[in-house]
Amino acid sequence: MPETTKRPTSHERRTAPEAALPSDALGRPVHDLRVSLTDRCNLRCTYCMPAEVFGNDHAFLRKEELISLTELDRIIGAFVRCGVRKLRITGGEPLLRPGVVKFLERLRKFELLEDVAMTTNGLLLPSFAQRLAEAGLRRVTVSLDALDPAVFGAMNGRGKHPDLVLAGIAAALAAGLGVKVNMVVQRGMNDSQILPMARHFKESGITLRFIEFMDVGNVNGWRPESVVGGRDILNLIGSEMPFEPVSPAYRGEVAGRFRYLDDQVEFGIITSVTSPFCGDCTRARLSADGRLFTCLFATQGHDLLGEIRARNPDDEELYGMIAGLWRARSDRYSELRALSASGEGPPKVEMSFIGG
Ligand code: GTP
Ligand code: 5AD
Ligand code: SF4
Ligand code: SF4
Repeated sequence: MPETTKRPTSHERRTAPEAALPSDALGRPVHDLRVSLTDRCNLRCTYCMPAEVFGNDHAFLRKEELISLTELDRIIGAFVRCGVRKLRITGGEPLLRPGVVKFLERLRKFELLEDVAMTTNGLLLPSFAQRLAEAGLRRVTVSLDALDPAVFGAMNGRGKHPDLVLAGIAAALAAGLGVKVNMVVQRGMNDSQILPMARHFKESGITLRFIEFMDVGNVNGWRPESVVGGRDILNLIGSEMPFEPVSPAYRGEVAGRFRYLDDQVEFGIITSVTSPFCGDCTRARLSADGRLFTCLFATQGHDLLGEIRARNPDDEELYGMIAGLWRARSDRYSELRALSASGEGPPKVEMSFIGG
C-alpha cells in the first residue's frame, strides 16, 4: 500500500504526537475533562442552587435522562484520545450517584489519565473515603465556605454544621486521599471568614483556595458588588501571614498559587472575575445528561448522549464528533465579560448542572 493511503493502526493513533491532537479555534488543546455524575445535591448553597429556587421538588433529571456509567466510559475514552489527561468528577454532589465507586474502578483502564480528582461537599466522605481511595481516586476538593456555624448554615441553605465537612476532610486524609478546600467568597455573606479559614487550613497544612463569586447560572443573585476581588483577599491575608507566589504547576492552572513564608503551606486564589484566564482554558465539561459544554458560561451544550442513543456511532465516529466540536470552540466568556459593561445575555446553564 502506498505510504500516503496507509491508515494508522490503533496503536499509532494512541501514541499520536501531541501536535496531532485537536486544538480549538483559539489554539487551546483539551486537557481537562469535568464530568458531572448528577445534578442533585444534599446542600442548597446560595451561590449555586439556592433553596428558594430549587427547594426539594425542583425538576431534576429523571433516571432515564441521566447518562449511564457505561455511556460515560465511552465518552471519556474518546476525550482521552483527544488529549484529556486530567479528569474531575463533579455534580451536584457526585457521591449521591449510585455506582460511583464502581465507575471510579473502571477508570483505571485509561492509562493515559494522569490525574483523577473529585469535587464534593464532603458530607458523605466519612462513609465513602476509604472505598474511593481503594477504587483508585487520588484526591478530593472539598467545598467549605465558613467555619462559623451560623454563616456556613445560612450559606449552605440546609443549616448544616461545618464540623460535618471537617469530619469528611479528616476521613479523606485518613484514607490517604489528597485534599484541597474551595471557599467561594461572597461579600456580606462570608467575607468575615477569610482570615479564620486561612488560619485554620494553614494550621492543618491543607491548601485552601479562595474563589471569586461568579455570575454562573441565572438564579444566584450575582451582582458585581458581591465579588471580593482576589487582590483584596491577598492584602488581607498578607497583613497577618506573609506569603510568596508559587509558579503554576501546569498550563491553564486556574488558581494563582501562594505559600506562607513560615511553614511553606500553600493557598490559592481563583480570580475568574477580576482576572480571567480564558486564554489558557483547556477544560471541557460534560453534564449529567451527556451534553458537552465548552465553557462554564455556555448557554447550551452539544447533545453527545442524544447522538449516541440515536445513531449508535462507533468509537471512531464518536472521537471524530468530539474532536470536531472541540476544533470549533471559541469560548472566552470571562474575558468578554471583563471587556463589556453589562452582564446581560441569554440564560446560562446552572453550575449545579455542569459541575464546578
Ligand atoms: P486542581 O486540579 O486541584 O488544580 O483544581 P482546579 O484548579 O481544576 O480547580 P477546581 O476544579 O477545584 O475549580 C475551582 C473553581 O474554580 C471552580 O469551582 C470554579 O469556581 C472555578 N473554575 C474552575 N474552572 C473554571 C473555568 O474553566 N472557568 C471559570 N470561569 N472558572 C472556573
Ligand atoms: N461562583 C464561584 N464558584 C462557584 N461554584 C459553584 N457556584 C459558584 C459561583 N457562583 C463552585 C465552587 C464550589 C464548587 C462546587 O462549585 O468552587 O466549591
Ligand atoms: Fe451542592 Fe456544591 Fe452546589 Fe453547594 S456548590 S449546592 S455543595 S453542588
Ligand atoms: Fe474557560 Fe469559559 Fe471559564 Fe473562560 S469563562 S476560563 S473559556 S470556562
